[in-house]
Amino acid sequence: MQSASSPVIVFDNVRKTYAARRASPEVGALDGVSLSVGAGEIVGVIGRSGAGKSTLIRLVNGLERPTTGSVTVDGTEISALDERGLRAARRSIGMIFQHFNLLSSRTAFGNVALPLEIAGRPSSEIKDRVGMLLELVGLADKRDRYPAELSGGEKQRVGIARALATAPKVLLSDEATSALDPETTAQILALLKRINRELGLTILLITHEMAVVKTIADQVIVLEAGRIIEQGATFDIFAHPSHPTTRSFVGSVTGSALPEDLRGRLRAEPVAGGQAVLKIVWTGEQSGDRVLGQLARALSIDVSLLHGQIDTIAGRPFGTLTIAIPGDAATLRAALDALARQDLRTEVLGHVA
Ligand SMILES: Nc1ncnc2c1ncn2[C@@H]1O[C@H](COP(=O)(O)OP(=O)(O)O)[C@@H](O)[C@H]1O
Ligand SMILES: [Mg+2]
Repeated sequence: MQSASSPVIVFDNVRKTYAARRASPEVGALDGVSLSVGAGEIVGVIGRSGAGKSTLIRLVNGLERPTTGSVTVDGTEISALDERGLRAARRSIGMIFQHFNLLSSRTAFGNVALPLEIAGRPSSEIKDRVGMLLELVGLADKRDRYPAELSGGEKQRVGIARALATAPKVLLSDEATSALDPETTAQILALLKRINRELGLTILLITHEMAVVKTIADQVIVLEAGRIIEQGATFDIFAHPSHPTTRSFVGSVTGSALPEDLRGRLRAEPVAGGQAVLKIVWTGEQSGDRVLGQLARALSIDVSLLHGQIDTIAGRPFGTLTIAIPGDAATLRAALDALARQDLRTEVLGHVA
């Protein structure tokens, strides 16, 4: 991926296979992955279970080593470091987890202080810094609570504060919102976005949820069976997904997936006396009603709305309409011309009787 800023994380043709064990054969987890994450970017890696996402993130902090290829973070080749070198490098790489991984025997304060104690910082400095971090994540009043006394969202805030303790350049997030309800997820994503903006922190987050990517990622990488199948700016990926897997991820949040009954009736070829089904995507401020009204007036045809939704992707409005119009060739061509004149991207999904 090209980045405007200098790259902080670079994968060069990384292959990772897990060795065969007694009963199980060798597993190929990543197969020739090259990528680059620019300073201050939020990059989302999305893929189904088993795609290789966790392997990818564990290669960044050296919990796994590539079988071939190299992984570089902030100019240091992580994949070439020994244990001692890794310990030092990990201070500039924070990580948050799906199940928070807090120590139940320590308070919020104690959990956030831990990386600083390990780094041997003086206790006065630890006190100030932990206080500041708990303030940053909105938990100043919960500093003496134990994890069991905190909600899921609060636990993840402690996780974030702990990840930031050693002032890392990179924050890795492995499904960090997957155990949270939608409202708490939105709050945690907003916090990550604010930290990214205020601290200039580079964030690599992996998720199986397109809704997470949609909200905060600048760039998206789609991983399938250990390979990158698509990548680009978040808005572009949503507006023009090219791989079928990406289309299905995108459809899951933009409502562009067709209702089941309609999908079953769609034919590739025109049906005599039938209708054509079109998907229209627009990315400006115009409303769906206006788009439909203009089309109906321009062509004096019946337009039926099958599905419509407006969304915000990477901060920009993004609309999807699925409509049916008379399916004869002349009407269809005139409709496509009229839509193109309005700068609307249209796809003929098929024909129905
Ligand atoms: N420590 C391991 N030993 C053997 N196989 C593993 C190990 N970790 C992951 N795998 C396998 O590697 C593949 C990718 O796994 P993973 O990176 O966890 O994917 P994801 O996070 O996308 O679900 C899967 O087939 C998984 O079973
Ligand atoms: Mg995983």
